Amino acid sequence: MLTANGRPNNNHHQIPSVMFKLRLIAIVAATCFLAVPAIDWLIPLARAQAFILTPAAEDPDVLDANSPADPVLQLPAEAFLGLPLDRKGAVDWMQALNSGIIAPRTTTRQMVMEEMEILDQDVIMKNTRDMPYVKFPHKPHTRWLSCSNCHNEIFATKTGSSQINMRKIFLGEYCGVCHGKVAFTPTNSCERCHSVPHGSTKAWW
Ligand code: HEC
Ligand code: HEC
Ligand code: HEC
Repeated sequence: MLTANGRPNNNHHQIPSVMFKLRLIAIVAATCFLAVPAIDWLIPLARAQAFILTPAAEDPDVLDANSPADPVLQLPAEAFLGLPLDRKGAVDWMQALNSGIIAPRTTTRQMVMEEMEILDQDVIMKNTRDMPYVKFPHKPHTRWLSCSNCHNEIFATKTGSSQINMRKIFLGEYCGVCHGKVAFTPTNSCERCHSVPHGSTKAWW
């Protein structure tokens, strides 16, 4: 510290250093305070991401490496070869289905080929704060999922009866029962669900 006349200030050097410490504590405290809601979001976010980056088939808890079937099983990289990818590099299953590259069977029984019960009905969900509204489309879902996959355990057959938010989705509830596990992850491609701009929200995609 220099005084106004340029001489070192030995008398008061304690005061600025205490002030500095107080300021530092204030900054650290403020950062921690801000970080709490962020971590609240980030932890499930990271978990959801890890799910996608670690395909279940390569997980030693899922796959028994000592099983005689192990050598004949296809690895995900080999199985996914040639499938269309989304902009994040994950398989775009809807595009694969729409383009006819894959044709899911309705049953594992060899001779039976049942028709899927397709429901062409969208549900608009508006509890999205500043994000575009969510459009839940029944049609693409019911092309490969039966009603009982969702009703009534995950969702009641009444619009607006579920209290959904992103935290619950990241933790694997509601849409997160599948999205982030077997369907595209909610950490990417927000716009695939939040597809209906309203009021001041804009389409950024
Ligand atoms: C798999 C579909 C899906 C994806 C992907 C998705 N959301 Fe959501 N989001 C929802 C649903 C469903 C709701 C609840 C809507 C309701 O209840 O009306 C919601 C609600 C929200 C809300 C308001 C409630 C809350 O949790 O604060 C925000 C903000 C939000 N989403 C942000 C995002 C962001 C940012 C992304 C991308 C990182 C994203 N969402 C990706 C389905 C999705
Ligand atoms: C992938 C999950 C999923 C599948 C599969 C599914 N639904 Fe739904 N369904 C929903 C969601 C989500 C809602 C909205 C719930 C909410 O808003 O709380 C809904 C709402 C409904 C509603 C209420 C609509 C309204 O206007 O109140 C009916 C009826 C319904 N579904 C029937 C069906 C039938 C029939 C099938 C099978 C052909 C089916 N659903 C398959 C997720 C699904
Ligand atoms: C039972 C499993 C399941 C649940 C629950 C579920 N989804 Fe899906 N969803 C899928 C599958 C499987 C696909 C197709 C695979 C993919 O696109 O990754 C899909 C695809 C989608 C698509 C893409 C449709 C298209 O034509 O591109 C949207 C949008 C979507 N889901 C929104 C939602 C929202 C919003 C919820 C919650 C309200 C939800 N899903 C709940 C399984 C589910």
